[in-house]
Amino acid sequence: MKLFSKIFLTVLASHFLLTPALSAPDTQVCEQCHGKNGVSHNPDAPTLAGLPAINIEDALYAFANGLRPESQSPDNQDAGHKLSQDSAVLLASYFAKQKFIPTQQTFNPSKVSLGKRIFDLKCESCHTDAGSMADDETSLLAGQHTPYLRKQINHFISGARKNSSGTRKDTLDGLKEKHINALLDYLASHQ
Ligand code: HEC
Ligand code: HEC
Repeated sequence: MKLFSKIFLTVLASHFLLTPALSAPDTQVCEQCHGKNGVSHNPDAPTLAGLPAINIEDALYAFANGLRPESQSPDNQDAGHKLSQDSAVLLASYFAKQKFIPTQQTFNPSKVSLGKRIFDLKCESCHTDAGSMADDETSLLAGQHTPYLRKQINHFISGARKNSSGTRKDTLDGLKEKHINALLDYLASHQ
């Protein structure tokens, strides 16, 4: 037994010494759509930098298990979101450590205060400071791409995004289009 353990440990040690790259996540494929270090300049693909690791892992689990629409455009069919759990954990931890940079994007300044009123009433309790606090573990909303956020809100309302408690559907149901637009203007005003 002892000899076996020794051999086993030696094999194990040399494996790790010789192949350190195996444990490093390959972020390049993700960065093609999600931008360098996960800071996205692609309005359809969210910024991943600084998102809570748990939310990134949950999202990847949801994509892999059909609980969330993989993508909406034909050229995104092969986004490579169906990963093993180990890769998902490594990539989530990598992107969570990068710095979130708010998106420079247009918004309607005259709707920001209405959006803030609705947000403070219905969303702020779980998404502190306009959803800018990673510690909440409710993803990040302030400064995320508007077209992406709009799509997610519609997915919650339609039920296409199933990886969430009913709470958000309840919260979002009943919001009129103009309220959703104002919420998005408020979130986009964080630049
Ligand atoms: C071909 C483009 C493409 C590639 C490559 C890609 N993604 Fe995505 N990703 C998207 C799009 C588009 C969305 C938004 C999907 C939606 O609208 O629901 C998305 C969404 C996500 C989300 C959800 C974020 C959130 O806020 O809930 C995560 C996490 C994610 N991708 C991680 C990754 C990782 C990790 C990789 C690399 C292994 C990767 N993606 C590769 C296009 C891509
Ligand atoms: C009871 C807590 C709670 C409330 C209230 C709430 N949310 Fe959320 N929200 C969450 C959690 C948790 C997530 C993390 C992702 C998931 O589970 O799908 C989330 C995720 C989201 C996302 C997806 C972010 C992403 O990266 O894909 C959007 C958009 C969102 N919420 C918008 C809202 C808006 C707008 C309101 C108010 C009208 C709201 N939420 C109210 C808990 C809440």
